[in-house]
Amino acid sequence: MLYSELGKDKLKISTLALGTWAFASDGFWGEQDEKDSRETILAALDMGINFFDTAELYGMGHSEEVLGRALKGLRDRAVIATKAGAANLSKEDLINACEKSLSRLGTDYIDLYQIHWPSPTVPMEETHEALLRLKEAGKIRNIGVCNFGVKNLKKIVPYGTVISNQLPYSILWRAIEDDIIPECEKNEIGILTYSSLSQGLLSGKYKTADEVPKGRTGTRYFASTRSNGRHGEAGMEAETFEAIARIRNICETYSLPISSAAISWVLNRPGISSVIVGARSPEQLKDLVSASELKLPAGAVGELTSATEDLKKVVGNNADMWEGKAKSRIN
Ligand SMILES: NC(=O)c1ccc[n+]([C@@H]2O[C@H](COP(=O)([O-])OP(=O)(O)OC[C@H]3O[C@@H](n4cnc5c(N)ncnc54)[C@H](OP(=O)(O)O)[C@@H]3O)[C@@H](O)[C@H]2O)c1
Repeated sequence: MLYSELGKDKLKISTLALGTWAFASDGFWGEQDEKDSRETILAALDMGINFFDTAELYGMGHSEEVLGRALKGLRDRAVIATKAGAANLSKEDLINACEKSLSRLGTDYIDLYQIHWPSPTVPMEETHEALLRLKEAGKIRNIGVCNFGVKNLKKIVPYGTVISNQLPYSILWRAIEDDIIPECEKNEIGILTYSSLSQGLLSGKYKTADEVPKGRTGTRYFASTRSNGRHGEAGMEAETFEAIARIRNICETYSLPISSAAISWVLNRPGISSVIVGARSPEQLKDLVSASELKLPAGAVGELTSATEDLKKVVGNNADMWEGKAKSRIN
């Protein structure tokens, strides 16, 4: 396992992190047995993964509880990142939300406390003041954001406290490349990526949009007429599955598992500190763990990048996977 460092205090995190949204056992991901979640968390530690990402919103706190129970007695081996939802960013709400997360996680400190989505109403100054208060009280050790585009970064970066920005990024979803990655790099903000397997599309197990489980067709890859769609756009199903077919062919030529190649491709892009993967079992995690150290052949990197140039144009610069341009929350 390789590690990277975040911020001035050099928070040491594995370059592969375990995302725990699916442990929420919710309508999006479907049922998940806590035993499988616990075994995945323990397997992650055994494999050298020290970085775990959760959120108050995942299963209304259930994911935090599952993570907290699994890490009981092992707290010092883990770097825990959780998030406060956009509805809890006023001073009072944020402080309350943090207390509740601490209690569900069964810990007295959070290593990285993140704003999950920017608030359209609460001034950044107020949210930041609350974050500082939590930091001074020792309840959180570091401050991070998620889904912050250039405009929102410019509002919070001047405080000099934010060490990371969690963003959707995969070989199929390259909307952050032209503006947001350079802005993060310029300000020494580490990028933590999510949906780097494009919610399972990059496992290679789906050849057409019709094969994708219903709960997972709400992103802009799919027509908004499919289940869970709310973006109001036509989607990009043809381009997405053509790109996946090209990726599959390239991976066959170089004898690479698609999922590992997809993770390694992200890790080798500029500015990336860690890839958060949503593995749901020790077996899935075992398949992915070697990606942290996988060196893709130079030819494969070039071919994989070219394979998704067309799709990159269709995705455009709206990085929000769920909302169309008019309502995009990543600004
Ligand atoms: N900050 C944010 O706004 C935000 C948003 C989304 C996610 N996240 C974080 O990022 C994490 C991961 O992102 P994600 O949830 O979008 O998912 P992802 O990592 O892109 O994909 C996860 C899915 O990939 C499939 N998978 C994983 N390993 C596999 C393997 N070895 N073989 C075959 N399939 C495999 C599984 O599908 P099956 O279910 O079919 O097994 C799994 O559910 C989340 O848990 C969460 O912590 C953050």
